[in-house]
Amino acid sequence: MIPLCIPEIRGNEWKYIKECLDTNWVSSVGSYVDRFEIEFSKYVNAKKAVVTMNGTAALDLALRSLSIGPGDEVIVPSLTFISPVNTIRYVGATPVFADVCRGTFVMDTNKIEELITPKTRAIIPVHIYGHPVDMDKLMSIAKKHNLYVIEDATESLGSMYSGKATGTIGDIGCFSFNGNKLITTGAGGMLVTNDEKTGERAKYLATQTKTITDNGAMYHEEVGYNYRMPNLLAAMGCAQLENIEEYIRIKRENANIYNELLKDLKGITLPIEKSNVKNVHWLYSIVIEDEHVLTRDELIKKLGENGVQARPFFMPVHKMKPYENCRHSGMKITDDLANRGINLPSSVGLKKIEIEQICDIIRNATL
Ligand SMILES: Cc1ncc(COP(=O)(O)O)c(C=O)c1O
Repeated sequence: MIPLCIPEIRGNEWKYIKECLDTNWVSSVGSYVDRFEIEFSKYVNAKKAVVTMNGTAALDLALRSLSIGPGDEVIVPSLTFISPVNTIRYVGATPVFADVCRGTFVMDTNKIEELITPKTRAIIPVHIYGHPVDMDKLMSIAKKHNLYVIEDATESLGSMYSGKATGTIGDIGCFSFNGNKLITTGAGGMLVTNDEKTGERAKYLATQTKTITDNGAMYHEEVGYNYRMPNLLAAMGCAQLENIEEYIRIKRENANIYNELLKDLKGITLPIEKSNVKNVHWLYSIVIEDEHVLTRDELIKKLGENGVQARPFFMPVHKMKPYENCRHSGMKITDDLANRGINLPSSVGLKKIEIEQICDIIRNATL
């Protein structure tokens, strides 16, 4: 089976994790935790990074750090993994859904302003499958209406927007190191910000708001959270980060190979890269149009029968029971893409010959 997206472990992972085991520094305090935060913040060029136990915790922490809560509304796409929407509910706020763009699959910034009410406090753009949201337009809307921006960059590590890493343009950016992400720690996440105060607040909340009194006792001024990542996993993160440039290069090269091999096929729309962005193509994604001879689900089945794991686009969150009554901008493009989109295998370890096999299966299916 050619899997959809699996980890690539080829560097110092064993060495750094062994060092944690040998020295007993396995838990949430340790040099790799600090190192991972520092090196990651340098890599994306953000002032402060706070490592968390997963990307969902980073998003939850972002909302809490900005004091978003009951009575507030947060604008988010529906065509996304459910995590950012769930975190809006975790803090007691209400999600409001914006439709997406046909070409890039990400939040349509032309659909945001109509959703803004006096209750709106924040926007969560999700750079799904790797393509950045139009951040210039989004930031100008946020500024005009005095809204926070929390970038869900969990799928776009390695993507750039106007020369800046996704996740560093809004007030806060969140990343995931889940097993299928560009770099992985098994489970893990990172919150980044260019505002020192917000970063300190995030670290404070993520570590149970712990302060140490003069006699060494622990004091907690507010309700806090244990969102910390253990040193063991941070060690893996440091090792993964050492290879990130190579992983990005491979992902982009693989996307080019797919593009070349699929470009002549009728009824298939290929992913795009807008002129001011660099798309990491975290999951290489195509759209099956009406004139294609197979439906999207038939094609996924065909690929599966031939040993290729492909996945339909996210089922829209506004169709999920907990969110079916949420306000939205009209979900025409979201619903259409959700019915037509396919993610193709995108692991860093994917070989050219495997991409050729996958494209042959797609080509033969149309004969
Ligand atoms: C768009 C998006 N947001 C958030 C997350 C949550 O990250 P995690 O699984 O690390 O909690 C993921 C992926 O897993 C995701 O794809």
